[in-house]
Amino acid sequence: MPGYDIIETIARAIPTKQHSKLRLAVLVSGNGSNLQALIDYSRLPGTSFEIGIVIANNPDSMAFARASQAHIDNHLVDHRSFAKRTLFEEKILYHLHEAKVDLVVLAGFLRVLSPHFLSRYPNRIINLHPSLLPKHPGLHAITNALEAKDEHAGCTVHLVDEGLDTGPIIAQSSCAINLGDDLVALTKKIQKLEHALLPSIVQEVAKRVLVIQDKKGSLPDNQNHLSDRK
Ligand code: GRF
Repeated sequence: MPGYDIIETIARAIPTKQHSKLRLAVLVSGNGSNLQALIDYSRLPGTSFEIGIVIANNPDSMAFARASQAHIDNHLVDHRSFAKRTLFEEKILYHLHEAKVDLVVLAGFLRVLSPHFLSRYPNRIINLHPSLLPKHPGLHAITNALEAKDEHAGCTVHLVDEGLDTGPIIAQSSCAINLGDDLVALTKKIQKLEHALLPSIVQEVAKRVLVIQDKKGSLPDNQNHLSDRK
């Protein structure tokens, strides 16, 4: 059951869109299978979002091949090439601005973003995490769930705040941890859940943004600010 109040918060944080669909930036560090799930979903008929830009901080990421194959603008911003985190983040912010994105999706992006970065996209950055938060934040979440002998594992999509995987939860999917499930087996199960959950939540946000902004568009300019009040 998605947290519709959080979806509403995100949708209302998005300024007037400059494209007909909600435009995403997807930030990735590794394999990018969740990026692929977003790409595939965005190509389905009736989808309300598109991916405007892909940024990866790791030259070995599969994100470049996946984005290029889908003809999506993609950039390497390698944190190791910058003397300071602020410079690394400024480069990412530059690309996001150029691409005119509405929403930033962290899909396996293994860098913590500073409060300054977050303040540039307030309530507009979401993250995917492979645990049932608030359980097992941070790295090695799946290993930690196995070691804790949890009965269930899963994934969470949440709004990013200044903490490590602490932001308001939008939605979760769970699965049983069966006897004999090892890291490989459980990771596979969780990734299957992630590939369904993340695109569906982005679609929910996108649909809500369209409704809010269509409503604004149908009013004279000087009444737009009133249309959002309850
Ligand atoms: C996912 O399990 C996600 O939850 C975590 O990193 C992993 C990324 O996988 N934050 P991929 O790069 O999308 O394949």
